[in-house]
Order: sequence, then structure tokens, then C-alpha cells
Amino acid sequence: MSIPIHTYDAVIVGAGLAGSTAARELEKAGKKVAVITKLHPLRSHSGAAQGGINAALSDKDSVELHEFDTVKGADYLADQDVVALMCREAPKTIRWAERMGAAFSRNEDGTIAQRPFGGQSSPRACFAKDRTGLTLLQTVYEQALREGVEFWDEWYAADIIYRDGKVSGVLAFNIRNQEKVIFNAKAVMFATGGYARAFKINSNAHANTGDGLSIVARHGLPLEDMEFVQFHPSGLSGNGVLISEAARGEGGKLLNALGERFMTQYAPEKLELASRDVVSRAIINEIREGRGVGPRKDAVFIDLTHLGKEKIMERLPELRDLAITFLGLDMIKEPILISATAHYSMGGIPVDIDGHVRKNSKELVEGFYAAGEAACASVHGANRLGANSVLEALFFGRHVGQSILKDLEHLELRPAKAEDAAPMIQEIETIMGRNGSDTVPGLRNELQQSMTDNAGVFRTEETLQKQVDIVKALRKRFHENCRIDDKSKIFNTDLQEAIELGHMLDYSLFIVQSALARRESRGAHYREDYTKRDDEQFLKHTMAYMDGAGDIRLEYMDVTLGRHELKERTY
Ligand code: FUM
Repeated sequence: MSIPIHTYDAVIVGAGLAGSTAARELEKAGKKVAVITKLHPLRSHSGAAQGGINAALSDKDSVELHEFDTVKGADYLADQDVVALMCREAPKTIRWAERMGAAFSRNEDGTIAQRPFGGQSSPRACFAKDRTGLTLLQTVYEQALREGVEFWDEWYAADIIYRDGKVSGVLAFNIRNQEKVIFNAKAVMFATGGYARAFKINSNAHANTGDGLSIVARHGLPLEDMEFVQFHPSGLSGNGVLISEAARGEGGKLLNALGERFMTQYAPEKLELASRDVVSRAIINEIREGRGVGPRKDAVFIDLTHLGKEKIMERLPELRDLAITFLGLDMIKEPILISATAHYSMGGIPVDIDGHVRKNSKELVEGFYAAGEAACASVHGANRLGANSVLEALFFGRHVGQSILKDLEHLELRPAKAEDAAPMIQEIETIMGRNGSDTVPGLRNELQQSMTDNAGVFRTEETLQKQVDIVKALRKRFHENCRIDDKSKIFNTDLQEAIELGHMLDYSLFIVQSALARRESRGAHYREDYTKRDDEQFLKHTMAYMDGAGDIRLEYMDVTLGRHELKERTY
């Protein structure tokens, strides 16, 4: 087998905010870095983050309040040392991004403007209109290019080289022509994004198929807290495309079919700016009780008309365009239709505070790192606060880059061999050779619809058990009976989507089995049969492992507490 082997100090998979930031940090320090990405970096999903990035900048705010809001919002499942680090470094992170060229929106006096977001004690989200993620991504990508980072665009990372507790490279193929390459490195970092595409109605890009998570899990490594999937309250009705929380931050009101501002019933003080889990449940409840609006009665209104044209054009121009494009509704003139949409993954690849991937609750994997939405640090616990994800990606991208830099002083290169590429070649040949009667879009649709129906905003033992059985049956059909029609090597998106579906099926089983075992309600995980938080039994992180037969085994890991006392949380 002849296959090129490229050697680097560090290889990063994913070119969003976390990946590009880490790469820039390493290259600037003189290391040789490659970033492998299945998209052009500027099409990474970080660019879709609209509303803001949190940092306690104003006199009325403080790092302690930011920390407290994050821990409380997380329903006390976040590791408090990691939260403290991120909140402490947030103001510096904003200034660092600004000095690199990120143009934030401003107040009259020239200071950085901040808007309120859900669950915050003070307006804390710095923003660039409603294009915050894109502004930051452009800045970081340009700076990474300037330092000389090599971006391998439209290359698909299919596997890692993992032996004896150490990761020493990535196997990837060129999406354009299926050329295969081994990337051999002392350090490998995954910044591969989230997994909300497992659900039918979601706000995620088509590419957010959670590949990195299943790649890790297939090597017998754990995934943490996978049951915690965030449902954002405002996705456009019908397709789930994000209508930023900025819309509620700027004053948007939620109304049901009776014209009632229903959040007065669910969170009388915070109203539309309660935490996302609370607002999403309220919306779905209104719909379930027959007070939905729109042609299918499966939405509620968000009314922004009282803000006026000038403010909407200044602060929310992108959102207005989205609602016109997809619904034909102009938010300047009329309320628009929204409902809860699967948005963000609190769970992911378990890492310690410096981004080292965990082998289990006690040991780390050598030479392997993760950051951003793919990682579970755990900074968001059971429910993330809006505008903390862009912060997490930017801060931890940089922090983990620096952590890799330190480790490179002692990490050694384990030379790769051509035979190391065998698993990738085998996977491609197996998928290309299948000729059954099931199709990738057909199975994907069944997966997404059933995940929304059975493991969505509201869950029970019965729906989750049903979904475990459905996912197992879909996995079997995928492996035994799924064909792909395109057998060519050129831009074979059939092949790519089949590999991605395999990943979606694997991590979906982690989501539902972890959710089935968690017999309590906490943050975004709401069990109608166990409606209370149960700290006695479940104040712990889920660590789930998959064996060779595809069965999931669950263990639990302690939560790092110590800074904020546990309290009841209502909104
Ligand atoms: O609503 C939003 O703008 C999304 C931001 C976030 O998820 O942090």
C-alpha cells in the first residue's frame, strides 16, 4: 500500500473558531501546523453564531456574576473550576480579538456595545450586529493564514491513529478525488463541532454531523454528558434556522394564538430572557396545549414590530433577511413564526481544563486534545447560556493551543506507517461496495424525525426506550442494507454522507442511552416522568463507552464543585 505520510508538530481537525484559533497560536510560536477541514474554513458553523460573545466588561457586571450565571444556567452540572477560568479570561479574550481586527458594535461613547441574553444578571453579550461569529471567524482565519497555517480544505478526516493510549495522527481523504493521506503528528486536536443534526428540526449546518465524536467513540474512548442537547427557543418555523436570542435580547415578545404574552406564566420575572431550556419548554407546551400559530399550528409568534425599522436594520438585519427569505414575513411589519430548534451540544469528547482528552475518569490520552463544541470541558453542564459558546470556542481554542505548545516540549513523534491507513481504506471500500435497498437520505430522515419525536424537548422512559430500539435497528440497516449510488471518486458526496450518517447513528445511541439512564430533569434534559432535579443520585457526569458490538456501557464521573452552593433553579 503506497500512501503519502505528511509530518507536522500538530494536526487540527476543524477550522471553526476553536480550530483556527489554536492553529494560529501554535504557528505563531513557530510550530508546523495543518488544519484539516471538510469545508472552506469560512463556511464553518462558528460563522452562524449570530447574537454575541459574553464578557463582564461593564461597571454593573463582574466576573463573579458571569461565573454564577453560567453555573446556575448549567443547573449545577458544570465543572466550576473550568467555568471560573473561562469567565475570568473573557474580558481579555474580547480585547485580544479586537486587537486582531474584530469590529464589534459600539455605544455612542465608543465602548463595546453589549446586549442582554437569557439567564444573565447584566447585559453581557458583546456583538457585531447579528453577525458576531462570522466577524470573529474572519478575523481569526485571516490571522492564522498570515502566520502560515496550512489549511487542507475539503479534506475529510476519517479516523485517528490511536495505539497504547497515544494518538499520533489523522487519516484523511481528499473529497475532490479520494486521494488518501496520513497526517503524522506529535499532537492532534479535534475541533469538529456539535451534533444537533441528529434532530429533524435543528439550527445546524448540513456539515454538523458530529463525526469527531464517533471517531473517538469507535476507539473505545468515552463521550461525556451526551444526553444534554440544547433546544434554542427561536428557530424559524418549519426549518429550524436560527433567529438569534438577540431578537429577545433587543425586546422581542413571544405570543400564542390567543395573543397572550405567555412567558408571564412560566417565568414572570425574566419573561423571554429566562434560560433557553425554560423558554423552549414553554413554547412547546403552548403548542401541545393547542395555542400554537401558523398553518400547522406548530409555532408561536415573536413580535419585534415595536422596535421599529431603524433598530431592526441596525441591530438585526440578518434575522430580518432570514425571515423574509424563508417565511416571507417582514419583522418590521409583522410578527414572525418560530419554535424550538435543536441547536447546541453540551456533551462531547471529555477533556480536562487544558483540553487533554480523557481516556476515562482518571486517565488522559497522550497527544490528543479537543476544544469548542466537540469537547465537553464541562463548562456548560446541563444547559448553556447564550453567547457562552462563541466565548468557549475562542477562549479554549487559544488556551488549548497554548497547552499543546507546552506539551510539545516533551511529546515525541511516533512515526506512522502506510499500514496505519487500513481502517480508512476499509471503511471506504465497505461503504462503496454496499448495494442494499435502504438509502442514506431515507435512513437519515428516519433517524432525525424519530430523535425529534422521542428524545426532544420532552422525554420519558417509554419514548427513550423506543428510540434506543429505533436507533439500533437503523444502525443494523445501515451496516447491512444501505446502498450508495455514486461509485465514482470525484466529489463523491454520496460516500461522504454515508460516512457521516454512520457517525450520526453511533452518537445518537449515546444520546438516548445516556438520557434513558438519567432519571431526573436537569437543564435541557427534561423527563416528564422524573420532573425534579435529583442531586442525590445524578449530580454527576455521564461517561459512556461503546464496545465493538455497538453496545453502550455507562459510568459516572464527579462534578467539580466548590465555588457556588447548589440552589434550586427555576428559570
Ligand atoms: O441566539 C444566538 O444568537 C445564539 C448564540 C449562541 O448560541 O450562543
